[in-house]
Formats: sequence, C-alpha cells, structure tokens
Amino acid sequence: MPFDLVPGLEEVPIAESSVSFVDGTAGKLEYRGINVELLAANSTFEEVCFLLLFGKLPTRAELEEFQGELVHYRKVKYRIIDLLKCLPEKGHPMDALQAAVAAIGMFYPRRRALDDSARRAACLRIIAKIPTVVAAFERLSKGDDSFTPRTDLNLAGDFLYMMTGEEPDAEKVRILEVCLILHADHTMNASTFAGRVVGSTLADPYCVVSSALGALSGPLHGGANEEAIEMFKRVGKPENTRAVLQEMLAKKEKIPGFGHRVYKTVDPRSKILKVYAEKLTQRSGSPYYQIAVEIERLMQEQVGHKGVWPNVDFYSGIVYRELGIPTDCFTPVFAMARAPGWLAHWLEQLRNNRIFRPTQRYVGTHDQPYTPIDTRT
Ligand code: COA
Repeated sequence: MPFDLVPGLEEVPIAESSVSFVDGTAGKLEYRGINVELLAANSTFEEVCFLLLFGKLPTRAELEEFQGELVHYRKVKYRIIDLLKCLPEKGHPMDALQAAVAAIGMFYPRRRALDDSARRAACLRIIAKIPTVVAAFERLSKGDDSFTPRTDLNLAGDFLYMMTGEEPDAEKVRILEVCLILHADHTMNASTFAGRVVGSTLADPYCVVSSALGALSGPLHGGANEEAIEMFKRVGKPENTRAVLQEMLAKKEKIPGFGHRVYKTVDPRSKILKVYAEKLTQRSGSPYYQIAVEIERLMQEQVGHKGVWPNVDFYSGIVYRELGIPTDCFTPVFAMARAPGWLAHWLEQLRNNRIFRPTQRYVGTHDQPYTPIDTRT
C-alpha cells in the first residue's frame, strides 16, 4: 500500500514505547509516567537511570546495589585513554566520545550476548564510563592526565571532580544532577531513533550509543546549546540584543535554543533551567541571562505566532558555563544524561524487535545507456 512521504517523519509513529511521554501542547514531559518536574525536585540521576531502564523507581536496596555497580564501572581501560591521547587535542569532544564508546565495546567479548544480565551490565558500563571519557578528553586536551574517578561521589559530583580536579561544590553538583535528570529521555527524537535503528540490526549496545552520539552532535539536535552560547557571546551586552537578533532573523537563520518539533509551548525543562541560569548568573555577574531573557521576549514578539518557544538548549548552556563546563563539552554532558534514555529504548526495541527497513520514493531515471569514459562530456 503506498504511503504519503512525510519529510522528517513528522507525527509518524515508529514504535510503541513506554519510556517517556511528551504532551507538546500542555508542555508536559513524563518518564515512565512520572512528571519530570517531580523527578527533578525529588530524585537523584541514578534513580532516574534505574527508572528509565527498568520501568519503576528502585527500592532503597535496589538503588544501593545499582549505584554500587555504576561506581564499579567508572574506570576506563588504559587503552581507551591511549586512544583519546591519539586524537587531535582540538578535535570536538563529541567525536572523541563517539570513537571511545564504539571502542569500549571491543573490550567486552560478550557484547553481542543478548541475555538480561549481559544487557544490564552493558547499560551500566556505558552510563558509568561516558562521564569518565568526557572528563578524560578534556583534561588530556590541557596536557593533564591526572584524573581518576572517585568512589565516594555520585555520578554528577564525580564528573565535576574529574573535569576540574577540585572538590565539587554541593550546590553545583545538585544543579548538574537536575540538568542530567531533565535531559535523560525525550521520546522519539533523532538520536533515540538512530539508536533504535542500529539496535534493530542486533548491533551491540556500544554501536547503538555511538550512532546515537553521532546524531546528537548535530546543531539541529544536541549541538544547539553550544550555538546558543556562541550567539550570547556575539550579542555581548543586553543592549545589542535586538540588532543581532534582527540580523539573524533577516538572514532566515534559526535561532539556537528555539523551536521544537513537538512542543508548541515552552519546553518544561527550559523553565527549570531558566531559574538556575538566573540564580547562577546573579552570583557571577555574567550578562548572558539578561541577554537570553531579552531574546526570549523579542522572539515571542516576532515568531511566537509560529509556536516557536525556548527549548531545553536555550538556558542549559548558561547553566553549564556557570558550572565551569567548557562550551565544547555541553553536548557531551547532554549525551551523559541521555545515555540511559537511549539504552532504555534499546532494551525496549529488543523486546519486540523487527529490523527497520523503510522505503523511499524513487525520483531518479531508468534504463540509462552506459557511456564509455572517453566519450563522456
Ligand atoms: N528560529 C527562528 N524561526 C524558527 C526556529 C528558530 N529556532 N525554529 C522554527 N522556526 C520557524 C521556521 O522558520 C518555520 O517558519 P516558516 O513556517 O515561516 O517557514 C516554523 O518556525 C516551523 O519550523 P520548522 O523548521 O519547520 O520546524 P521543525 O520541526 O522542522 O524543526 C527544530 C524543529 C528544532 C529543528 C527547529 O526549530 C530548529 O532548527 N531550532 C534551532 C535548533 C535547536 O534549538 N535545536 C534543539 C532542539 S531541542
């Protein structure tokens, strides 16, 4: 039966899923049926990882065991560090992360084993090692290889510790943890879809996550928070905002951190991040929050009628910057947060798997003659 071609697969369901839910009109996001705002207020990131992967909140005993396993998996093999050392130090950390995650899979011979315990171990290994790889690449690019994960900190705290080598501030750890919770899953977005497609071929979970990482790296997806910071830099002072925005809109440029395929109102995650951005910039004196608020006001005035609102990437970059995370690590931090979501979708895909094999509408020619090379013009 012929179907209509739907560019970008807008509104085309590609799977049944119970991992997360978005109501784009009400501005609501749930993980396994629980509102993300409740999770951000009450949960830890580790608890949310468990919820996404296994479909329910853990008991205290389950959480303790799960956290212990995650801590156990934090270290990465020295050969992975050697691999990172061989990559260009000015290369993008997302590319380094993608290469490292694919390479980590090579160390686990049972990686294609599909029993429940092998799947669980692979999921935890990936979630636990991504922060170490991101921090390692950052430290190595500064010529510093003195980082080792700690066992007494939660995932967010250990990441901040490994990035800076300093004892992390408890409030900043909690803010990063909330950021990770807010980014942990988001229904059938481009990277999750990419991961499910690769998972449907029964490729191993390291390949699944490395393909999702490739999709996330694009500026239309996870890369938008970096672009938003570049825009704030370009604006420089709040009084320049209107002129810069006008120029970008006149050139039909997409304003990074605005618009969403699903949300037709403010992204609920951006509301929470906005509060942290204000709090942190008030302390540091950075003008970026004021610039962002002015951009939001002008965008509402000029393109609000198209349903273009701030998305998760608009304020997240300001928060990450205030936490001391370098701009090019923003998307890797997004990836750190999204790994449990990708893996929850991978587990779900395998439960009722059929390889993805869509079709196309062929618009080329047929029965062309073969012209010998010397007679081609
Ligand atoms: N800035 C200015 N205008 C925007 C816009 C933005 N960020 N996002 C969408 N619009 C406008 C489009 O120009 C289009 O207007 P038109 O109907 O006059 O042509 C309309 O809103 C619909 O946008 P469209 O590009 O068709 O939406 P989409 O669903 O295909 O794309 C995004 C969604 C997220 C890719 C898109 O909004 C975008 O590129 N945003 C910037 C990047 C970003 O922040 N990505 C992170 C997403 S979480």
